[in-house]
Amino acid sequence: MKVSPSVISCKLEILKEQILESVDAGADSFHIDIMDGNFVPNLTVGADFIRAIRKVTDITLEAHMMILDPEKYWKSFADSGADILYFHYETPFDFDSVHKRIKEMGKQIGMVINPDTPVDVLKNFLTRLDMVLIMSVYPGFSGQKFIESTPEKIRELKEIIDEIAPHVRIEVDGGVTDITGRLLKESGADIIVSASYIYGGNIRERIGILKNI
Ligand code: DX5
Ligand code: ZN
Repeated sequence: MKVSPSVISCKLEILKEQILESVDAGADSFHIDIMDGNFVPNLTVGADFIRAIRKVTDITLEAHMMILDPEKYWKSFADSGADILYFHYETPFDFDSVHKRIKEMGKQIGMVINPDTPVDVLKNFLTRLDMVLIMSVYPGFSGQKFIESTPEKIRELKEIIDEIAPHVRIEVDGGVTDITGRLLKESGADIIVSASYIYGGNIRERIGILKNI
């Protein structure tokens, strides 16, 4: 299982240390939660934060944009060092133009769907996506409880992906622990995001557990 720790639960005063420890423990990428206080009721970080992390590590960086106007900001996140740009289906943006420009930059594009959004909406985009991110909590905060119907949703998506776009990887975000992670693996997830589980305990041990799930 590939593991993408979300830095939202890192301790800011020792961020660099925790990032390097996570990389050393086998993290496959880092997940950066960008919240604007509008699309979700919380505020986090922006381009400067991505640029600072990029200086510390070469690892793949994902920008999970929980913002009302991703079209206005995605380029600054890409220029700051984000390798994967995640757009929420529920926010307005011109997919064709964004897709074209991201591919011209040699970066990857992903689409995210909220718990109440059905996987069907992804069908029109799948062949042009690199990744899909399935929310297993309502976005906005770390430390929430995993929505139990998520594995079923992943199975449904996996069937569609196998049929029309087998190159697309499935990532899942929210409430991932050693227990829910196993359910996600069984249902076909390729990558799991985890914040409070990893950074609420021994980082090395917990990344190891998730990777070997
Ligand atoms: C939720 C974020 C997630 C979240 C993960 O809005 O997109 O990345 O912070 O946190 P945990 O793993 O604690 O659910
Ligand atoms: Zn996220």
